Amino acid sequence: MSTTTATQQSMKEFVDSKPKLKYVFFGGKGGVGKTVMAGAAAVAMAERGKRTLLASTNPVHSLSGMLDQDVFGKATAVEGVSNLWAHEIDTKDTIERSKVEIREKIEWFLKYAEIKGKADEFIESATMNPAFEESAMFENMIDIMFKDEYDAYVFDTAPTANARRLLGMSSVYSMWVNKMMQSRQEAQAMRLRLSYSKKKEEKDPLMDYLIEFQKRMGRAKDLLTDDELTAFFFVTLPEALPIAVITRFINWFHEFGIPIGGVIVNMVIDKNNVTEATAPFVRNRIAMQDEYMEEIYKQFDGMIRSVLPLFDTEIRGVDMLKRTAHLLFA
Ligand SMILES: Nc1ncnc2c1ncn2[C@@H]1O[C@H](COP(=O)(O)OP(=O)(O)OP(=O)(O)O)[C@@H](O)[C@H]1O
Ligand SMILES: [Mg+2]
Repeated sequence: MSTTTATQQSMKEFVDSKPKLKYVFFGGKGGVGKTVMAGAAAVAMAERGKRTLLASTNPVHSLSGMLDQDVFGKATAVEGVSNLWAHEIDTKDTIERSKVEIREKIEWFLKYAEIKGKADEFIESATMNPAFEESAMFENMIDIMFKDEYDAYVFDTAPTANARRLLGMSSVYSMWVNKMMQSRQEAQAMRLRLSYSKKKEEKDPLMDYLIEFQKRMGRAKDLLTDDELTAFFFVTLPEALPIAVITRFINWFHEFGIPIGGVIVNMVIDKNNVTEATAPFVRNRIAMQDEYMEEIYKQFDGMIRSVLPLFDTEIRGVDMLKRTAHLLFA
């Protein structure tokens, strides 16, 4: 595109400069092409010889649709691309499993603390909120990362607000667990002081769990903030709202020390297709697009990795995804 400056590092240059790159994420406003870009990036990584998993943590899925292949519920080899597997995570199943786990812990705790009461009420209040579902999905994502069965992971993240909370969660978890551990330690010391029997340190599975949990979160945070291993890419269109969304996103990610891979501009109308005969409607769109492209290059200077054209159809099937991958990594 005409506005491209020599100072931008391309997607290809960026990825080639990070041989250890292992965790790749895509964020942006709804409908800008995150799933497509995640798919294209996964194809490109697989073509570079990395065993790659394309995973979706988005409760509203479209991986199977995009690939024209059922990849729901388990990692499935993608037909037509070697080294590539795709997995639409079963959100319902993940959440149910999380509920069972939390029930066990709460029931154990009530017994331990000698509290007579129904676990159901506690479980209800612990699980009946959107944060619970998000943290369940976050943990599921971390499980996949820790299993370490692939050389590279591309995550098609949920739209903005969710993804943002998803990652903020790791810091919140840390703070929360520290507080919990502190009060558990105090309670345990108190029990010891009050108890007549000189029974030293009782086994405390809840404490063990919290310590284990904090370790996991710490490890996840280490991976997610390592700029050799991790990169977040932001997808925008040459339009006001998607630009505003990723601007907020980028500022927020800077704050959390999460490595930003760069910006991808999608659905740009190719001016080469415009002739005298082109309808005024399209010409107007292109004039608008020019203004926003200028804004994008100013605002995200040095961060633009790729500019992709608006195709005349939606992007479906492996062949079209490969074409998109080659444009993304041109
Ligand atoms: N450059 C493009 N040209 C034409 N169609 C495109 C382009 N990029 C994406 N699309 C199409 O736009 C639609 C939205 O893309 P996609 O599903 O990747 O967006 P998304 O950001 O993941 O959306 P959501 O926020 O709902 O998850 C899809 O039908 C996709 O095929
Ligand atoms: Mg999507």
